[in-house]
Amino acid sequence: WPATARRTDGELAVGGVGVRELAATHGTPLFVMDEEDFRGRARDFRTAFSDADVYYAGKALLTKAVARWVAEEGLKLDVSSGGELAVALAAGFPAERIGMHGNNKSTAELHRAVETGVGRVIIDSFDEIERLEAVAAGLDARPKVLIRVTTGVEAHTHEFVATAHDDQKFGFAMSTGAAADAVRRVLDAQHLDLVGLHSHIGSQIFDTSGFEVAARRVARFLAGVHEDLGITLAELDLGGGLGIAYTSGDDPLDPKTIAESLTSIVRRECEEGGLPMPRIAVEPGRAIAGPAGITLYEVGTVKDVEGIRTYVSVDGGMSDNIRTALYGSEYTSQLVSRESDAEPMLSRLVGKHCESGDIIVHDLYLPADLRPGDLVAVAATGAYCYSMASNYNHLPRPAMVAVRDGSTRVIVRRENEEDLLRLDVG
Ligand code: LLP
Repeated sequence: WPATARRTDGELAVGGVGVRELAATHGTPLFVMDEEDFRGRARDFRTAFSDADVYYAGKALLTKAVARWVAEEGLKLDVSSGGELAVALAAGFPAERIGMHGNNKSTAELHRAVETGVGRVIIDSFDEIERLEAVAAGLDARPKVLIRVTTGVEAHTHEFVATAHDDQKFGFAMSTGAAADAVRRVLDAQHLDLVGLHSHIGSQIFDTSGFEVAARRVARFLAGVHEDLGITLAELDLGGGLGIAYTSGDDPLDPKTIAESLTSIVRRECEEGGLPMPRIAVEPGRAIAGPAGITLYEVGTVKDVEGIRTYVSVDGGMSDNIRTALYGSEYTSQLVSRESDAEPMLSRLVGKHCESGDIIVHDLYLPADLRPGDLVAVAATGAYCYSMASNYNHLPRPAMVAVRDGSTRVIVRRENEEDLLRLDVG
């Protein structure tokens, strides 16, 4: 639960605002972001990586308000599409502090990135080298670029979010020589300024060893580039992926621990390879946004399936949180609008979509006196819920509010019927 979450007389409050008031004023489902929690986590990364760059990964959650929090806390920003770039720029996020990702950036996206002066473009394919060179030449610019390499590390996470093994779409494999070729090709491109390498092994990872092996391998590769080509690359971006606690069984990594271990690994490899220590960067998304958010739902129906379990249906579902259906993710949920001493009943928290896979929490215990009108909250939904939300079944996407010190601010307005019809020119 977010740092400022407190129970008073049985009701949950976040950022000093009670959930009943939030639901009454803003409706449900509602994404509630604890601004202080988000900022605190951003600051923890800044402190832990004080000699490094911290790029907040906007794919986890990006709104104009969020972009401003990130800017104010002194972080940089990783965007992975023209849309994320547009939101960042609309928020006034300084372009030179933005890193632009994507395995298939369009010419228009590259053009916008170079034109607006984004700080780093992370190159992901040979096609992109040519495309970006042409765009940069056309604009008479010389963008600073990193090359995304894959280290062959098999991250221990869901296969959909593991990104450094060989059989997947991202980056240039170090093992096949593609990464070395990419370095040579970028060095030959007159309008590209190669400043470093990038590696990202995956997401929702709890084990430090994957990060460490990847860091060692890219650092060695950096030393190899130094030896073979006489080039000193000054930056090493080690990506994101730190796991967070969705349930009590999850044991998240501490930014400080990971910062110390990665820095010492890179330092050792570089000393051995006889090259100066590069500037390290990391790109946490989930670890900053995830724990800061909750989703507030109203219970609509409570259906006891005799002898099996009770299905508790709420007013949202897989359109505001696809992660359970997509990855089998686990969540924690509670009754938050009142206290209950009733017996715990084995429940399944489900949405209102027209399929049985529309599950938010597979197995949980909710009080047996749960009834329509009660509010339940799901914890740790700040990352990859709003950003992956859809309009499935033409459900309007929920609003998002930021709470802090007893005050509430709407940062994303709730969609309405007009929004649902806005693009339908029929
Ligand atoms: N950097 C790069 C290059 C990435 O691809 C990602 C995530 C991150 C940083 C941030 O990773 P984080 O620190 O948030 O783990 N939709 C999935 C997660 C996909 C992650 C994609 N890339 C989910 O809901 O679990």
